[in-house]
Amino acid sequence: MDKRQELYHGKAKTVYATDDPHRLVMHYRDDVSAFDGVKLAKLDLKGETNNKINAYVMGKLAAAGVPTHFVRVLNERESLVKAMKMIPVECVVRNVCAGSMAKRYGIEEGRRLAEPIFEFFLKSDALHDPLCNDDHIRVLGWASQAEIDEMRALTHKVNAVLTPLFAAAGIDLVDYKLEFGHPTEDPTGPVVLGDEFTPDGCRLWDAATGEKFDKDRFRRDLGDVIGHYRQVAQRIGAPL
Ligand code: TMP
Ligand code: ASP
Repeated sequence: MDKRQELYHGKAKTVYATDDPHRLVMHYRDDVSAFDGVKLAKLDLKGETNNKINAYVMGKLAAAGVPTHFVRVLNERESLVKAMKMIPVECVVRNVCAGSMAKRYGIEEGRRLAEPIFEFFLKSDALHDPLCNDDHIRVLGWASQAEIDEMRALTHKVNAVLTPLFAAAGIDLVDYKLEFGHPTEDPTGPVVLGDEFTPDGCRLWDAATGEKFDKDRFRRDLGDVIGHYRQVAQRIGAPL
C-alpha cells in the first residue's frame, strides 16, 4: 500500500489517497480544536493516542457487528480506512444530559436520562452544527429515510456496546458523536460507521468522582488533556 497525495485537511486529521482508490490513510495530527474551530492548540502525543484509542474501539464495534470503515493501523499516528462518501450529518446519543443539550433546555449537566436520547446535527462549522430532524434530512436531500433509520439504529447499537465497555473501566459514557457514509466500493449498500471514536468526540466521566476525561478538558481549560486521554486508553485496555 502506497501513500499518495493529501486529499483533505480536517481540524484534527489529514486524509491521504493510496494506490487503491477504495482505501485512504487517516493521519491523526496533534491538533485539537473546539467551538467549531475557533479555539485551537497542539497537544503532544494527541495524534498517536487518538489513533490507538480509535483502533481499539473500532475493533470492538466491528466484533459486535457494527460495520466500520476501519481496516488496520499502519503506524503510530495513521490507520488505513475504506474510502467513504460521507453523509453530512452528525449522530449524537446522550445517556446523561451535558453540553449543548443542557444549555438548550436549561437542564443541569449530569442529569441521567431515563433512556438514551438520539439527536441529529447538520455537519457545518459555518452554521455551528445546527440541530435537525428526520424531515430536514430527508426533505433537504442530505440522506434518505432508509439511511436515517440505519444511522439511528447503528448509533444506538454502538451505545449498547460501548456503555458497558466504558462502565467496566469505571467510566460513564455521557454522550458521543458518530458519522456515517457509504464505502466507495459499495455505494448502494448499507451505511457504514466512518470518522473516529476518540475522546475528542464523546464525553467520558469517572463513574465515581465525575472527573472529565474527554475534550471538555480542552474546551473548559481543565488541564492535562492528553494525560487524561491516555488514562482512558489504559483503563479500557487499548494498547498505547
Ligand atoms: P454537544 O453537547 O456539543 O451537542 O455534543 C454532544 C457530544 O457530541 C459531545 O460528546 C461532543 C460530540 N460532538 C462532536 O464531537 N462534534 C460535534 O460537532 C458535535 C455537534 C458534537
Ligand atoms: N469538534 C468541533 C470543533 O473542533 C466542535 C467541538 O468539539 O467543540 O470545533
